[in-house]
Amino acid sequence: MVCYVMAKMASSMVESGEDVFRKIFKIYKRRNPPPDFSDVIDFSKGVPSDKIVAAKLDPAAVSDVEAARVGLQPVRDWKVFGLRGYPGFIFISNPFLPGSQPFWVRQCLKTYPQKPNVCNLDMHMSPSDTQDIWDKSVHGNSFTPSGKREPKTLLERLRWVTLGYHYNWDTKTYCANHYTPFPADLHLLSVQITAACGFPGFNAEAGILNYYRSDSSLGIHVDESELDHSRPLLSFSFGQSAIFLLGGIHRQDPPTAMYMHNGDMMVMSGQSRLLYHAVPRIVPAPQGHTALEMEGCSLASSLQDRTVVKLVSEEDWAVCSRYIQSSRVNLTVRQVLGPGQRFPETPSSHQRTNAGWTVGYHDGPADGENGKRRSSCDSGDTVDT
Ligand code: SIN
Repeated sequence: MVCYVMAKMASSMVESGEDVFRKIFKIYKRRNPPPDFSDVIDFSKGVPSDKIVAAKLDPAAVSDVEAARVGLQPVRDWKVFGLRGYPGFIFISNPFLPGSQPFWVRQCLKTYPQKPNVCNLDMHMSPSDTQDIWDKSVHGNSFTPSGKREPKTLLERLRWVTLGYHYNWDTKTYCANHYTPFPADLHLLSVQITAACGFPGFNAEAGILNYYRSDSSLGIHVDESELDHSRPLLSFSFGQSAIFLLGGIHRQDPPTAMYMHNGDMMVMSGQSRLLYHAVPRIVPAPQGHTALEMEGCSLASSLQDRTVVKLVSEEDWAVCSRYIQSSRVNLTVRQVLGPGQRFPETPSSHQRTNAGWTVGYHDGPADGENGKRRSSCDSGDTVDT
């Protein structure tokens, strides 16, 4: 009934030209009363839906050995889906080999936040203070002996990290002289996935990590700052689940809601590369999707010598596993420049839009703590306009 009401409301708003995406975003974000989730597509359930269509991969593009090197199952075993009405959108339901994910989670929490990469904490702290986020965090206690909460650790305050060409949240651009080497392991992972999806020669040049708490959300936006939109955008999810909304090229287009669970990947390419999307809500990972907690580091002992994926120590895994029990990490990887392309002298024409929003993606109100701009993931209310 509620879904019928939602569909009816969406169609009348389309007719009136209203911002349907925003309305639906607010419904999924709402706490009281909670929304009806029955319309949310769950690719992991394998439930047939008239919205889900087959997606084709190129299994020959990546050998089983190459896939295993980055911790992926053989491509022929991946569960891959498309969505009716969204050509170029590809959803891959957790294609990781058992035991390889702890490595990627640890990279997101321990390695990628390290210098020379840039994070939200750099906006108001000195480089020496943000040098060892992991070390400074893991040795701190969250609670005092009296039971009072200690100030948040740096890891708990981490909201975003940028890699490669560092995205500038203020100008919404990348530029040639704000670049540090893109992580080789993540480059290889991205190259294998995009090759299997029919995009040989992908060059991972920029990455954005978003760290979500249970009350975080991410505003409606289009990723268009990259100069070459013919190259796909890749998205990886770890930890708790998200409701992901995929809209159209207009804010009046009603978005499709889907779950992104731990280990899931998305590829936005072709006609789906420049669509509005958002994350209105983080939801607890369903039973079984948290197997990751048990896999821990034992798994990786079976890894071959030449793998990129390395063993995660029990100590590191204890921290990672605690973190993802209540949080979500999303990692998007982008190719910024086409082959032979260079940045223009003034890059201002290539922007990430938030049309019609008073509060934009990663462009939220001043952070109470530091007076600087922060990620919209930073608060449950930053996108609630
Ligand atoms: C997500 O967290 O799933 C989306 C991230 C993004 O759109 O940048």
